[in-house]
Amino acid sequence: MRRKLVAANWKMNGSFAANAAWAVPFRAPAGCDVVVCPPFVYLGQMAGLLGGSAVELGAQNLSSEKLGAFTGEVAGEMLLDCGVRWVIVGHSERRALYGETDTVVAAKTARALALGLRPIVCVGETLEEREAGRALAVVQRQIAAVLAQASVAQLAGGALAYEPVWAIGTGRTATPQQAQEVHAAIRVQLAAADAAAAVTVRILYGGSVKPSNAQELFTQPDIDGGLIGGASLVAADFAAICVAAC
Ligand code: PGA
Repeated sequence: MRRKLVAANWKMNGSFAANAAWAVPFRAPAGCDVVVCPPFVYLGQMAGLLGGSAVELGAQNLSSEKLGAFTGEVAGEMLLDCGVRWVIVGHSERRALYGETDTVVAAKTARALALGLRPIVCVGETLEEREAGRALAVVQRQIAAVLAQASVAQLAGGALAYEPVWAIGTGRTATPQQAQEVHAAIRVQLAAADAAAAVTVRILYGGSVKPSNAQELFTQPDIDGGLIGGASLVAADFAAICVAAC
């Protein structure tokens, strides 16, 4: 039985005041794993606010490089130093806006794993790709690139997140059936590499998850939790989504 995982992706949002107002009253329900991923500059603050709670800290990105001359980058070593356990890798905004290729995403995943960070590796097709009937092929290509650098057993220490690009921030959620179809296909692909480990990998759904649709998504057999953007900025909504998973 896979334990559900719900992760908050705050993206480029937050302030010292807003983060404190979010974290001070927030209580993670028992029975599932909860991760919060604020922007880099607030990791230290959030480590302090969440210290002693069941909520684990995640980052939204890391460098594929070791410490050194990479101006503006943040190394995985630094994330560990800040108390970070998890890191989102290959979010579609990183892929689309910052040129992260499948190869870069695979290298970042490998770097996270080498350091003992738990990667949440994001995959997902655009609307154009879905309408062309290529959704599964795109996701399978993205996963294959990661599997060239990481074993299924290693990925089980983190998670995969299926996030159809057309559902992110649009209010247009994939139906539970649409999501389940892709999640099941991902698990088949993982099983072809390592059947025993494939059943232990948590595959999250992301894309306009809200309190009103979370439960229906999370009860699908291959949906093991969620990666939550907009709704995670409101502590009460994020808490309700966690409750739906637990
Ligand atoms: P959303 O974002 O919940 O705002 O759609 C999800 C994500 O991008 O991780």
